[in-house]
Amino acid sequence: MSHLAEKYRPQTFDDLVGQSKIVNRIKFMRDRGGLRGRVFWLVGNSGSGKTSAARIIANDIADSWAIQELDAQEFTLDAVRQFERMCSSKPIGEKGCHVFICNESHRLSDRVVSRLQTVLEEPCVQRNSTWIFTTTIAGQTSLFADKFDACPFLSRATVLEFESRGEQLVLDYACHVRKIAQAEGCDGQPIDRYIDLIKTCKLNLRQALMAVESGCMLS
Ligand SMILES: Nc1ncnc2c1ncn2[C@@H]1O[C@H](COP(=O)(O)OP(=O)(O)OP(=O)(O)O)[C@@H](O)[C@H]1O
Ligand SMILES: [Mg+2]
Repeated sequence: MSHLAEKYRPQTFDDLVGQSKIVNRIKFMRDRGGLRGRVFWLVGNSGSGKTSAARIIANDIADSWAIQELDAQEFTLDAVRQFERMCSSKPIGEKGCHVFICNESHRLSDRVVSRLQTVLEEPCVQRNSTWIFTTTIAGQTSLFADKFDACPFLSRATVLEFESRGEQLVLDYACHVRKIAQAEGCDGQPIDRYIDLIKTCKLNLRQALMAVESGCMLS
């Protein structure tokens, strides 16, 4: 992860550029019954803000020590068993909720997925935890295409699809990246060049910020 991309990682829902539909849905759920006891399935392009959104949701409902973030390869059967045991009680602390974040979820093994279908139905799990899975659009396609029937798993989840196309999104991203470039002394090009950059990067904001950091927008 480049320095700029990490420095400017969204910290609040309103920091998530171009994703107002998703943000409004999350806020709606938060106001109606809250974000605990839910399973989220976040799907979108690489560098569209899925992991950032997962962390923002997590921080909203859980203390830092009660948040576990793993890649799918680390999300083993043993890990799931351990998480299930942890859910038998609330974590210590004010917020009192466990959050488990799994990145790259299209790489979860079949056995873990079938175990999760049971675990996510457990009353104590539903009472004391929230689970957030992130995956890329490409990954989700292969998840549906082979390996296993993902639908029973997804039927337990709130699926949030990140915006991944459209002229307005390109413009929003371009303005965002230019603002950062200006703040960091990396700017020297008109907005059109940023629009081109966003398109070249296939709307991956991490990649665009890495390019800016390498000086591609200097005059
Ligand atoms: N919607 C967004 N608004 C503002 N910044 C963003 C957004 N999406 C991505 N970024 C920038 O890109 C960086 C990487 O974002 P993040 O890790 O959330 O992407 P991701 O969707 O999880 O990508 P991947 O699929 O590759 O894991 C962030 O730290 C931030 O700088
Ligand atoms: Mg991610």
